[in-house]
Amino acid sequence: MRKKIVAGNWKMNLAVNEGEKLVKSILDRLPKLKENRQVVIAPPFTHLIQTYYQTESIAYLNLGAQNCYSEASGAYTGEVSAAMLSSVGVNYVILGHSERREYFNETNAMLTKKVNRALENNLEVIFCCGEPLEIRTNDTQNEYVSKQIQEGIFQLTAEQFKSISIAYEPIWAIGTGRTATTEQAQLMHAHIRSVIADKYGVDTANKVSILYGGSCKPNNAAELFACADVDGGLIGGAALKADEFLAIINAMMHS
Ligand code: PGA
Repeated sequence: MRKKIVAGNWKMNLAVNEGEKLVKSILDRLPKLKENRQVVIAPPFTHLIQTYYQTESIAYLNLGAQNCYSEASGAYTGEVSAAMLSSVGVNYVILGHSERREYFNETNAMLTKKVNRALENNLEVIFCCGEPLEIRTNDTQNEYVSKQIQEGIFQLTAEQFKSISIAYEPIWAIGTGRTATTEQAQLMHAHIRSVIADKYGVDTANKVSILYGGSCKPNNAAELFACADVDGGLIGGAALKADEFLAIINAMMHS
């Protein structure tokens, strides 16, 4: 059975002491999860060590980062390498989030390098894809997302591909309160799985966790996670509130 994952992406929110409090409130009520159910908390870089100390003893609670640099080390002022993340206990990294693509001009070619660096350092990658509104309006979202995946991660071997999860996040649904319908999510997730099957075979495709992201909240999580090809969620806004994040974890636990 493939892994179900709920990952909280805090983005650029909360001071370290606020993050510490949030993690504490999550830990106070975090249910015990089976091995194939995982939670990831991805705070800003400055919070990673603190969050590591708070969460290290819980096997199904993973520490994630929101980005890493495409080179291994050197004169890249202000950047953080995959090896550095690994050295503070990070085991997941989110790459290719639409905000990184849009505001920081991350291209598929750059993401290929980032993914390679992450895998060299034994990080699991949550690779994000998703189309803007005009692409959805033109009904060309399948081609758009296929290209992101093919250009971003199809350099990997089948063995390396085992360290990849995908997050499908339609840009028009991120932070807008507008969620994809379960039908839209399921259709795209099935499409992504078929693109992976064409390249790596059905067996590999069936093992890849494909998360949904974009206004995933306690009131729609259970319905989304009930879709055959939706294996959890990448959560933004609702990951900043312990009650909401826990409710989404509960929905994943029972899916
Ligand atoms: P949202 O963000 O849940 O606030 O829509 C999701 C994301 O960007 O990962």
